[in-house]
Amino acid sequence: MAEKIIILGTGGHGKVVKELAEACGYEVLGFVGNAKPVGTRILDKKVLCCVDDIETLKSETTKVAVARVSNTVREKRVNEMVALGFEIPSLIHPSCIFSPSADVGAGAVVMAGTVINADAYVGEHSIINTGATVDHDCRIGDYCHISPGANLGGEVTIRDYTWVGVGAAVRECITIGKNVMVGGSAFVACDIEDNVTAIGVPEKVTKL
Ligand SMILES: CC(C)(COP(=O)(O)OP(=O)(O)OC[C@H]1O[C@@H](n2cnc3c(N)ncnc32)[C@H](O)[C@@H]1OP(=O)(O)O)[C@@H](O)C(=O)NCCC(=O)NCCS
Repeated sequence: MAEKIIILGTGGHGKVVKELAEACGYEVLGFVGNAKPVGTRILDKKVLCCVDDIETLKSETTKVAVARVSNTVREKRVNEMVALGFEIPSLIHPSCIFSPSADVGAGAVVMAGTVINADAYVGEHSIINTGATVDHDCRIGDYCHISPGANLGGEVTIRDYTWVGVGAAVRECITIGKNVMVGGSAFVACDIEDNVTAIGVPEKVTKL
C-alpha cells in the first residue's frame, strides 16, 4: 500500500510538489495551508485544514512535504513540522537523471527533467526545479532554490538560502555565498559574496 503524505502549501508550487510526490509513489491526502479556505479544491484534492491544525492529521500520516518557494518561509515551516514530529522526506522525480554517486539531504525536492551529475550534493530542503542541471561535484547548501532551467557547471558551490533564478547559468568552479539572489538569465562568471543580488551577462552585483 502506498505511503501517505500531506502537502503543506496551497500555491502553484504546492501543485507541482503534489504531482512530484505521486510520481514518487506516495498517496497524497490533500493540502494544508492558511491562504485558501478549508475544503477548497486544488487539482483532485482539497485543503484539509490550516497549518495550526495539521496535528489532527497525524493519525493518518506523519509525512509532510513543505511546498513553499521562499527559502526562509520554507525553513520556518520545516522547523514547525519537525517540532510537531512530522517527517519530511526528500522527493526525486523518476524522470531526473540522478547519478548513483550523487546525494540529497532530507526534504530536498528534485523536479521533473533535471540532471544531478556525479558526486553532486543537494542540501536539506533545497529545491532543484524543473529542467535544472547540477553538474559533477557541485555542493548546494540547505534551503536553496535552483529555478527552472538553471544550469550549474561542475564543482560549483552554492551556500545556504541562495536562489538561482530561472534560466541562469553558473560557470564551473564558482562559489556563490549565502542568501544571494541570482537574477533570471544571468551568467555568473566570478565568485559572489553573501547577501547580494547578481544580474546580467556577465553578472553585476548589487547589495541587497
Ligand atoms: C533579479 C530580480 C530578483 C529583481 O527583482 P526586483 O527587485 O523585483 O526588480 P524589478 O523587477 O523591480 O526590476 C528592477 C530593474 O532590474 C531589471 N531586471 C530585473 N530582473 C533582471 C534580470 N534577471 N536581469 C537583468 N535585469 C533585470 C528590470 O528590468 C528593472 O530595470 P529598470 O530599472 O531599468 O526598469 C528578479 O527580476 C529575478 O530575476 N527573479 C528571478 C525570478 C525567478 O527565477 N523565478 C523562478 C520561479 S520558480
